[in-house]
Amino acid sequence: MRNVTLTQYLVEQERSLSGVGPELRLLIEVVARACKAIGHAVSKGALADVLGGAGTDNVQGEAQKKLDVISNEVLVEANCWGGCLAGMASEEMDDPLPIPSQYPKGRYLLLFDPLDGSSNIDVNVSIGTIFSVLECPPGVTDPTEADFLQPGTRQVAAGFAVYGPATVLVLTLGNGTAGFTLDREVGSWILTQPRIRIPEQTREFAINMSNARNWPAPVTRYIDECVAGKTGPLGKDYNMRWVASMVADVYRILSRGGVFMYPADAKHVEGRLRLMYEANPMAFIVEQAGGAASTGRQRILEVQPAKLHQRVGVILGSREEVERLAGYYAEAG
Ligand code: F6P
Repeated sequence: MRNVTLTQYLVEQERSLSGVGPELRLLIEVVARACKAIGHAVSKGALADVLGGAGTDNVQGEAQKKLDVISNEVLVEANCWGGCLAGMASEEMDDPLPIPSQYPKGRYLLLFDPLDGSSNIDVNVSIGTIFSVLECPPGVTDPTEADFLQPGTRQVAAGFAVYGPATVLVLTLGNGTAGFTLDREVGSWILTQPRIRIPEQTREFAINMSNARNWPAPVTRYIDECVAGKTGPLGKDYNMRWVASMVADVYRILSRGGVFMYPADAKHVEGRLRLMYEANPMAFIVEQAGGAASTGRQRILEVQPAKLHQRVGVILGSREEVERLAGYYAEAG
């Protein structure tokens, strides 16, 4: 089989999809190249002195790791000069970053979580990068936070990389979800999963059980039913997995099905995960792979953001299970 590279895939998409032009193609290629550099830094670990804390906090008051800061810098530097972007926003930056005046500006906005799975950075467990691409509102050359506050349905592209046993990249341009694996010797992203489909049913759930006492009733009901197994109302035995890196949990679900939950609960009243650069890109990718993504009460992609670093409850994965849970929320009123 001939190897299809990311560049070739993007060129083919450009030829067949009306919304994909050379600017978007370059933008994705630049982000993917930055992911290679981040993956390389991650793989060096202690040898490159990149582990441990950076001694700073991000806007959410979370302690930043050295690799959080490095990954943010790699993405910012890589994306400043290309002429595709009007602005970018990151989990690690309080405010949106305008494109420096010496570079041309483009029509897109890029949002990213430079290194997802912070608690796994120093313990050699898979982590990754998540990104989302929006169009800058027409006529805006210096976008402010308000220009970024678009619902996930307006994303033109989304993707994530996982720095795991293999380095992989998952991408959607709104025409299905595709997976690429980094050929480390050649340095190319090779198309390895041309059309990812999430099985509609599952026997696997992912949730942080230590939050059980805080969960809303519909989530408690669903997990109780899963744990009850064959003799319970769902009539089958379930397995549980929780990597605590959303990128790794979602990659597993894209590969073999499952349901991922970080619901809003009594402790995380707005939810734990960030809407604009975690939940929205993952929801877009999952829907494009035939799955579903909900807050429990609403399709994630339809949530109107009120602020850049907004949090949201997340339930996503195999369609039937997500719909079952949304049904439980509806019944609970
Ligand atoms: O910040 C996001 C994140 O690291 C996700 O990647 C992951 O799913 C979640 O937080 C883990 O949260 P907890 O540490 O509460 O299990």
